[in-house]
Amino acid sequence: MTSTTRITTDIHVAAEVLLRGGIIGLPTETVYGLAAIATNEQAVMKVFSTKGRPTTHPLIIHLGPSMDPEEWGEFNDVAASLAREFWPGPLTLLVPRTSRVPDWVTGGRDSVAIRVPSHPVAQQLLDEVKTGVVAPSANRFGKVSPTTAQHVCDDLGDDVEVVLDGGACTIGLESTIVECIGDKVTVLRPGAISSDDIFRVTSISLGSENEDIRAPGMLASHYAPRAQVLLFEDISEARKTILNLSNQGKTTTLLHHDDVNEYAESLYADLRHADAAGIDIICAILPTPTGLGVAVRDRLAKAAHR
Ligand code: TXA
Ligand code: MG
Repeated sequence: MTSTTRITTDIHVAAEVLLRGGIIGLPTETVYGLAAIATNEQAVMKVFSTKGRPTTHPLIIHLGPSMDPEEWGEFNDVAASLAREFWPGPLTLLVPRTSRVPDWVTGGRDSVAIRVPSHPVAQQLLDEVKTGVVAPSANRFGKVSPTTAQHVCDDLGDDVEVVLDGGACTIGLESTIVECIGDKVTVLRPGAISSDDIFRVTSISLGSENEDIRAPGMLASHYAPRAQVLLFEDISEARKTILNLSNQGKTTTLLHHDDVNEYAESLYADLRHADAAGIDIICAILPTPTGLGVAVRDRLAKAAHR
C-alpha cells in the first residue's frame, strides 16, 4: 500500500469521494470494482485512464436494491424474471439502454450492462450515493482481478484515493453476463450463476456449457498473471510435468482445489501469490465443466493464453 491510498471501512468517506467526482475501490461479492458515479463524465474518464482501458470498452452500472433498474434499462419478460430471481447477486444483465444512460458508459452502444450486487457494503454505499455507479474490476487492463482491498492498492497504488474494505470477495470471479435483447438470451461471460440456473428460470436452452463463451471486448489474454499457466484435466499428468520442469530448474506450483467454490474464491489470490513468489510455471487442474466449474475453466483458459 502506498502512503496516500487509504483503505477504509467508513462508507461515508467512500460515498463522499464518489459524490465529489472521485473514484474508489468498491467491494462486491464477485471481485473489487473501481467505482465512479455513472452520470459524471470526468469521474468515469478517470476510471478508464486509471485502468488503462480503452473508452470504447463499456462499463457495468451497479444499482442498489431499492433503485429502479428500469430507469437505466429496458427489461423484457426474460430479463425481468432473471432480475427477480438473481438480484441482488452475481448476475449482469445486458439490455437496451434508456436515455438516462450516458454514451461514456456504453461506448456509444444501444445496450447497457446492469448489476445489483449482494455485498452488504456495496449496497450501503449505493444506498448512500442514491444513483448508478460504474465499476469495472479494479485491476489494470488485462491483469488479474482483485479480490481483496489490498490487491486493489497493490495494483492501482496512488491512483485511487480510497479503497472501501469489505473483506475478501466470497465468490471470487466476475459476474455472469447475460444478454437479453430481442428474442436472444446469451451468456457472454460465465460466472457463479450457471447456464442451468438461467435455464431453470427462463426454460430457454442456452446450449451446452462450454469454455468458448466470451464477453464482447474481452481479450483472450485477460486475467493473465506474469507466470506461465499450463492446464491439465488430470492431476497425475500435472505431477509428471512438474517433476520434468523441476529437473530443468523451473520453479512450479500446482493449482488445484477439490471444492469448486473454493477454487473460484481463491483463484485470483493464488495467481497473485505465485507471481509474488516468483514462480515460473503454474500447473492448474481444470475442474469439471459444470456449474461454477465452467467459469473457473474460462478464467484459467484466459490466464493460460499468451
Ligand atoms: O463481477 C463483475 O461484473 C465486476 C464487479 C466489480 O461488479 N465487474 C466487472 O466489470 O467485471 P468489467 O468491466 O471488468 O467487465 C464487464 C464486461 C466487459 O467485458 C465489457 O465489455 C462487458 O462487460 N460490457 C459492459 N457493458 C457492455 C455493453 N453495453 N455491451 C457489451 N458488453 C458490455
Ligand atoms: Mg475486468
